[in-house]
Amino acid sequence: MKNEIKIFSPATVANVACGFDVLGFCLDTIGDEMVIRKTEEKGIRITKIEGYDLPYEAEENVAGVSALAMYNELNPDCGFEIEIYKNIKPGSGIGSSSASAAGSVYGMNELLGRPLDKTKLTFYAMKGEALASQCEHADNLAPAIFGGFTLVKNACPLQVLELPTPSDLYATLIHPQIEIKTSESRAILPKEIPLQNAITQWANVGSLVHGLHTSDYKLIKDALNDVVIEPYRKQLIPHFDDVKNTVLEAGALGCAISGSGPSIFALSKGENTAKKVEQAMHNVYSKSNIHFETYVSKINTQGIKTL
Ligand code: HSE
Repeated sequence: MKNEIKIFSPATVANVACGFDVLGFCLDTIGDEMVIRKTEEKGIRITKIEGYDLPYEAEENVAGVSALAMYNELNPDCGFEIEIYKNIKPGSGIGSSSASAAGSVYGMNELLGRPLDKTKLTFYAMKGEALASQCEHADNLAPAIFGGFTLVKNACPLQVLELPTPSDLYATLIHPQIEIKTSESRAILPKEIPLQNAITQWANVGSLVHGLHTSDYKLIKDALNDVVIEPYRKQLIPHFDDVKNTVLEAGALGCAISGSGPSIFALSKGENTAKKVEQAMHNVYSKSNIHFETYVSKINTQGIKTL
């Protein structure tokens, strides 16, 4: 059995407009790399972090916390070293903490001969995710670990549904270089919502799931609307309405906040439209003085993988 593994842990988009805390999908072109190594010395040690300034103490690092949760329960007769090569900026809204939390448990599981299934890996990764967002949710973790589109049916006990990915669906993202902490963008949300908004939202979730199952792009387009969360959170994201209107004119099926922001995602049918949408995002933000990055990505149906 191998003693060392190098992995790609992908970025993800949570919520997917209408599915706050339950829906997510996995990106292909953006992600972190991690090396997980078995050691004779017992315990979990983070030995290298490149890209961003994050804590080395396992108990204070999301990758360390998820690794410790799994390690303490399995109690293997070895320890693990973790190296993190971070490409996903923390606080970007594309699952930075999830990529780290998922990567350590995925790597350890591979090195131990895969004693755990993907749901159990997601369960341990949630412990790390909770360190970053102060609440255990799996809508970024599930797509990172399972790939494609996922729906978290239950957080406790954890139940993840894998949804199909229409083959011509592409994501476009813009990441304005401002930081929004998940805990802060959760704090501004209302505790109660009007019944009519709830009805609209769950009709959209059901329609989106049906649209994914039937590759019905028109239905996907109609369903990609968030009447519950977006009205509150969009105030944290400069030029959100401009971006949304411009990318819809450019042909996107839908556009919404990625996770808790500040990134904004759009879904399009076909790579050509996704690239036009990228240009449209570019046009809006290049008039501002905020630095930004844009990406076009196929939906990653594999999820986290060994390199
Ligand atoms: N569902 C979460 C939120 C994702 O929107 O707060 C961010 O981690």
